[in-house]
Amino acid sequence: MPHYVYIETVGCQMNVLDSEMVVASLRQHGYQLVDSVDQADTILFNTCSVRQHAEDKIYSALGQLRRHKQRYPEKIIGVLGCMAQKDQRLIFERAPYVDLVVGPGQLQQTAELIEQARAGGGRQLAVSLGRRDGPVEQIRRSHETFDPLRDPTMRPTPFQAYLRIQIGCDKFCTYCVVPMTRGPEQGRPPEDILAEARLLADQGCKEITLLGQTVNSYRYHSGGRTTRLADLLVALHDIAGIQRLKFVTNYPQDMTAELLQTVRGLPRCSRYLHVPLQSGSNRILRSMKRGYTVEDYREMMARIREFLPGAAVSSDFIVGFCGETEDEFQQSMQMVRECRFKSSFVFKYSERPGTKAAELLPDDVPEDVKRRRNQELLALQDAVSEEDNQQFLGRTVEVLVEGPSRAAEKRGEDGDGLQLTGRTMCDRIVVFPGTRRLVGEILPVTIYDCTAHTLIGEVAAAQAGPELVGLSTPLPLAGKA
Ligand code: 5AD
Ligand code: SF4
Repeated sequence: MPHYVYIETVGCQMNVLDSEMVVASLRQHGYQLVDSVDQADTILFNTCSVRQHAEDKIYSALGQLRRHKQRYPEKIIGVLGCMAQKDQRLIFERAPYVDLVVGPGQLQQTAELIEQARAGGGRQLAVSLGRRDGPVEQIRRSHETFDPLRDPTMRPTPFQAYLRIQIGCDKFCTYCVVPMTRGPEQGRPPEDILAEARLLADQGCKEITLLGQTVNSYRYHSGGRTTRLADLLVALHDIAGIQRLKFVTNYPQDMTAELLQTVRGLPRCSRYLHVPLQSGSNRILRSMKRGYTVEDYREMMARIREFLPGAAVSSDFIVGFCGETEDEFQQSMQMVRECRFKSSFVFKYSERPGTKAAELLPDDVPEDVKRRRNQELLALQDAVSEEDNQQFLGRTVEVLVEGPSRAAEKRGEDGDGLQLTGRTMCDRIVVFPGTRRLVGEILPVTIYDCTAHTLIGEVAAAQAGPELVGLSTPLPLAGKA
């Protein structure tokens, strides 16, 4: 009998990828993906624990299913991902009608666990060992990476894909729950990564984004050889069909000259680096245990500017971390002015159980102060972004067309003059008029206007010579070339 699965995903790109894998595996077990709870016989939430707010949203969504489950007791409800690992049995206590709780390291078992629950096997719990629950090797093995299958239909576009190169994190920043939920840092074997990239290229993928919590710390030791991110980039760069390579998220201390030099030599490597600074104050960075100073970060920025002039750098900031004074917050503001980030993600500090900060440092910055600092930092970043976007006016940039813009989708537009959206090599969003046929192509677009978050332009092909028109012709796909 066919089954119907509905999956809701919150959180980071890692979760988006995990959901893609779970759906691919369920399809192999005869499931079809549906887009509403009502159509589904299996309802899954792939969850995030990085901030309290993300968890509240999931618990509230689960609360709304209480009635649904009473009416349809045969439906299976599952909680997957980071919150499953963090809260474990607590989820069954708070929502007794949940049938399965599956951590990020056990996702490969999802189909089987659903079957067991459906067959009357009761509640299913599959999670990894905690970071203090045994010998390191055993803990590592309990966090298994799950990357055997790809499901192109789950991706936002068929020509863009995430590729995991690393799981877990060993940095133990004092505020962060990730080392607990995703376990020890482990690099995937390079041959697996390359094989997956070739498969993606065969499926028509043009842009691959390599994923890791600290992606540039990637290392894989085997047979006396160490493979680093730079080596992977070189190998991936040669795969026919792959036209853009990105990697997120970077850790400042591992942004080496060697890596930057390698990127400089690889034209298909994106000139965009997301390297979270988190705070502009050395005292706060120390109490976050980030492992670098503001001076180290400045040196890294200088290295980036030297090796990759014109590269876009973006950051994350946490405002209102334990004991953050107004002066320390102003130091974060100062770093936004100084580093001129392309964009910044700003988060109000959220205390996470199980972290060092929750154990040792009081969450003492009032909520309204956090909110005000959040708005102030975002407003400053917007002003910087808008000013820096001006440099693109009159310039022609290469854009990978992702699809109709959200506004166009909402208005139900189609045909000629459809508003399309895409990204430049340095990850700037560009909107311009076109037609649906252009989706998935890499096109030259001339910019005539901008806001803080968007460049606005027109396809340059019509005015340009034949060589630019040629650019808009899709390259043959790998494997078919
Ligand atoms: N509170 C607020 N923000 C956090 N982040 C991680 N943990 C927390 C927390 N406890 C932010 C960091 C990280 C991003 C993914 O989420 O800025 O870079
Ligand atoms: Fe969390 Fe720090 Fe690891 Fe990033 S580097 S995932 S913030 S512990």
